[in-house]
Order: sequence, then structure tokens, then C-alpha cells
Amino acid sequence: MQDLDRLIREATAQFAAVADPAKLEQVKAAYLGKGGVLTALLKGLGSLPVEERRTAGASINRAKEAIESALEGRRAALREAAVDLRLREETLDVTLPGRGLRLGGVHPATRTLDRIEALFGSIGFEVADGPEIETDFHNFSALNTPENHPARSMHDTFYIEGAPGLLLRTHTSPIQVRYMLGHVDRHADTDPMPPIKVIAPGRVYRVDSDATHSPMFHQVEGLWVDENASFADLKGLLTDFLRRFFEKDDLRVRFRPSFFPFTEPSAEVDMGCVFCDGVGCRVCSHSGWLEIAGCGMVHPNVFRAVGIDCERYLGFAFGIGPDRLTMLRYGINDLRLFYDGDLRFLEQFR
Ligand code: DAH
Repeated sequence: MQDLDRLIREATAQFAAVADPAKLEQVKAAYLGKGGVLTALLKGLGSLPVEERRTAGASINRAKEAIESALEGRRAALREAAVDLRLREETLDVTLPGRGLRLGGVHPATRTLDRIEALFGSIGFEVADGPEIETDFHNFSALNTPENHPARSMHDTFYIEGAPGLLLRTHTSPIQVRYMLGHVDRHADTDPMPPIKVIAPGRVYRVDSDATHSPMFHQVEGLWVDENASFADLKGLLTDFLRRFFEKDDLRVRFRPSFFPFTEPSAEVDMGCVFCDGVGCRVCSHSGWLEIAGCGMVHPNVFRAVGIDCERYLGFAFGIGPDRLTMLRYGINDLRLFYDGDLRFLEQFR
């Protein structure tokens, strides 16, 4: 029996001597494992005289329990020590001064979009949204630009690998399509259909990058559909908008005939150069004019694609380049500054 007491003391001491949990399990094997001392003792019971077996067996089992409980105690102590160590190592000094919150500002591109929304909002325009990953149908086909139409080459499109029929929208015009489809649905039983007055600001993507082109840039689409929307309304609306945007009542605006597949007739909108007042300078390539938007009367094929009666309703649309407006309003000469995230630039707009 003394042997067993010694065995217990020895095991307890050995357990206490290791600080590594994996090591502890190895030491355990020497006592409690298949080839361990206690297992051997229990196996040896068979060779004892029958009268002794019972008491010897009980003693060995008590010793085994004692060693097991010593082991469990050591395991728990090591677990606790590990937690303590982590707590000590990962203490937070809550008395350290914070990093400080610096006052941020609205990005100039967002400022312009907000301003455009406010100006159009003041004359009853709604704001609509659409996905940046677009279908070929919404971005092109429904806009009277079927597959293989030469006008598709006006846009250097990012297609999406492994997803045929999907692309990064090259303009905000697909939002027109989505909005009209929804409008037709919502007002299926209303006669006449209520007018549509909507703008759609958003990010668009084209394979293009230099001082005045970024592969991601912004556009603001506009759409007005009514029984009697006219080109004269379009001219008045855009002229007024630009004058209010630049806070310049005598800002000159001109409409130059152009081509877009989804409008007929179509025009390019120019405004007098705000840098040289139309005299001619580097910014306007010495023409005195700056190109600012595309526009036109909605093509009947677009109305057909969305189920609007093109004999009854008329509409005009426009696509404004708000990044250009931002550059002009704040005198910024490189579009890439918008996207560099350089605080020295951004802080000027706080
Ligand atoms: N979506 C055209 C583009 O990105 C711009 C545009 C032109 C939009 C004429 C219009 C429009 O709504 O009527 O080149």
C-alpha cells in the first residue's frame, strides 16, 4: 500500500512539474495509459491469491482515482494560467488618449450630385436608382441599340467574364428603361398615364483613363415623359438648370445637333466656358465652349421597348456629366484627384 501512496505522490509531482498541456498528456500516459503503471498493476491482480484480489483491486482503483483527480486538477490549473496570461497580455489601457475623430466632409463629386438633386427636386423631379451591373437589354437593346449596332462601339464596355449578357453599365440611361417599365406597370389602369419626371444619378464604367477620363465616373440621367413634352421644354429646362447650377444668369448655353441611338433628334449641350467667358482658353480648347451633356427626344423604339404608346406620349431625355460640372465649378484640372483619396485635396471641401 505504501507503494501506491508513493505512486500517487510521484504522479502528482510529475504533473505539477510540467507547464505545457501537451506535455501533461504525455506524462499522464505513463500512469494511466494502456502501457501505464496502473494498468499493469490491475493486470497483475490475476496472479494474486483470490483472498487478496478484492482488497488489492480496491486499493489500486483508489490510487487510480487519486491520480486521475490530480491530473484533472493540473489540467484546470494550466487552463486557468493560460487565460490569466492572455488577460495580462491583452489588457487595454483605457486611460490612453483616443485617436480623435477628425471632422470629415462631403466629397466634391457627391456635393455636385446633391446639388443637382436639389435643383431638379425643386421642380418636382424624383430620383431613381438602378444596378451598376446591368443587362445587355437595359444598357443597350432597349435603348434602340441592338446587337452589332455601330453605336455600341461609342462605349468601351467592361463585360463580365463567365456572365454572358451582363456588363458594367456604360451610362445611366438604362435607369430610364427600368423606371419606365416600372411606371407602366404601376399605372396600367390609369388614363392618361401620369407624367414621368425623374433624374437618375449614378456611377458608370468605361475602359478609359487619363486626366479627364476615369474608368468609373458619374452621370446624371434625366427623363421627362408627358403628352406634350417638347424640345423647347428640354432646352429651357437644361438652360435654367445650368444657370442655376453655376449661379450665372447670363451663362450661354447652346444645343448642337448630334446622334444618340435612343433619342431623335439628338443634341449635345455646350455651355460658355466659365474660365475665359467664351474668349477661348486651354480648358475649352480655345473654342469658348464646354461640352456638358447629351440630350434629345426619346426615340419611339425606346417607348416601344418599354410599352409606352409612342403615338400618344412624347418625352425628352438628357445625360449630364456631373464630374465635368464639379471640375468647372471648383476649378479642378485633373479628374483622377476625385478618386485618389488624398486628404490634402479632399480637405479643401470641408
Ligand atoms: N447616355 C449617353 C452617353 O452616355 C448620354 C445621353 C445622351 C443620355 C442623350 C441621354 C440622352 O438621356 O438623351 O453617352
